[in-house]
Amino acid sequence: MNKKNIVILISGIGSNMQSIVNANISNINISAIISNNPKSEGLIWAQNKGLNTFCINHNDFQTRQAFEYELIKCIDKFNPTLIVLAGFKRILSDLFCNKYLNKIINIHPSLLPAFVGLNTHKRALEYGCKITGCTIHFVTCELDNGPIIAQIAIPIKANDSADTLNKRTLEYEHQIYPKVINDLVNDHLILKDGKVFNKIKVNDFNTSVLINI
Ligand code: GRF
Repeated sequence: MNKKNIVILISGIGSNMQSIVNANISNINISAIISNNPKSEGLIWAQNKGLNTFCINHNDFQTRQAFEYELIKCIDKFNPTLIVLAGFKRILSDLFCNKYLNKIINIHPSLLPAFVGLNTHKRALEYGCKITGCTIHFVTCELDNGPIIAQIAIPIKANDSADTLNKRTLEYEHQIYPKVINDLVNDHLILKDGKVFNKIKVNDFNTSVLINI
């Protein structure tokens, strides 16, 4: 069986990247882990695992475009089926997003389209939300936008802080991201007319679930 190449982009701890690596998804080849941050803990973890790692420090480039050209040069060596953003903390320009349209996926710690951007848990708490969650979506040129692939809804407890919520949300992120990557590379999930469908199950509650805690 021909394995599909995926490239993972990280910036920090890389716990989502670790969950993808540890899932040992049978028909994927993790071709490269790229970080824009030389101090990324995830990069060190991946190096210790013997994975193919690259650091492309955005500070070494004068412009966003110059940084992205370098990123593209590195990514294109692997001809990836998917580019997985896993806590990659750089905004990607139209140049990059359009080049890999329908190939880039991202995980975001809220139920999009609510709470685009940073500090999602803090904002959900300030808003008095009763439910939050995480979303995996295809990346378009608009920040935290693009066709939604999967979501998990997570109830907010009365005594939750941004930290506890972050910790609990990450546990679900770690479960759902490898599953989605598996389903995408196996063409179980398909993008049609700007929406994502499950080809296998007509009523798929696995990729859109409310978890009771
Ligand atoms: C997660 O909250 C994810 O939803 C967001 O960035 C964070 C990454 O965490 N995109 P990690 O680096 O995977 O631990």
